[in-house]
Amino acid sequence: MPYDCESDAANIQENLNCAHIGSVVVFLPEIDSTNNLVKTYLANGADEGLVVVAESQTGGRGRMGRVWHSPPEVGVYLSVLLKPPIEPDHLPHLTLLAGVAAVLTVNEFSHPPASLKWPNDVLIHGKKVCGLLCELTQNQGEPSGLIIGIGFNVNHLPDQFPEDLKNTATSLRVINSCLTDRLAVIRSFLMNLDREYQIYLKEGPRPMIEKWGLNTDLFGKKVAITRGPDITTGTAMRLDESGRLVLRRDDGHEETFDSGEVTLRMST
Ligand code: BTN
Repeated sequence: MPYDCESDAANIQENLNCAHIGSVVVFLPEIDSTNNLVKTYLANGADEGLVVVAESQTGGRGRMGRVWHSPPEVGVYLSVLLKPPIEPDHLPHLTLLAGVAAVLTVNEFSHPPASLKWPNDVLIHGKKVCGLLCELTQNQGEPSGLIIGIGFNVNHLPDQFPEDLKNTATSLRVINSCLTDRLAVIRSFLMNLDREYQIYLKEGPRPMIEKWGLNTDLFGKKVAITRGPDITTGTAMRLDESGRLVLRRDDGHEETFDSGEVTLRMST
């Protein structure tokens, strides 16, 4: 069922009960990218908590310059504007925090538990059900803010994924063999994000880093981390206090990563 943009926006906004998120909620039938629209609203003075949801995106963007396939009626595509009162070096915490909110949301709708892959992909049975693109806007003379963009694969059937994603993507419908109410997913994510954000602002990163660790099965696994042309192999150990991934390299030394693409290696 498609969104009824006006009444769904009102319904979400009225039933959120959040401290920071949902000050304004906008639903649109189509947009290039919800992250782009939030950036435009930010440049025009939008406040923290703005939420933009789209039925479909014509230019949905993923991490590493990838495209986020965004057809109507099956996925959730939304972006949230935050203005965290923290130093720019601490912003990676918010990326991890958004991942924690996302995995908690997916787990409300899926029985096999979802698992985080660093920094914030959400996987079920090793396939991606949700991805996050967090972008910081910090141009001289413009308002700065953090845009948290998230895409959930909710009601896709297997053949609704493009050929190149068929082996790596899944949806709640594939997992549960039934439809899930997209508005319930949106409400859950916004409330989880708001709660985790409040805890972070009060208590710092430790609770979030602990929750991240409780919702991953990455630690102890053999992985490869790709950063540009460099590939480092080893065993994923833990997140450090800054949220960086600690890898015990195959040569036995530990190295921490603040960015990169993690791929699981078959254990030998
Ligand atoms: C990834 O895993 O590569 C990140 C995907 C992020 C997709 C979402 S959908 C809503 C928001 N708008 C975008 O253009 N991208 C994010």
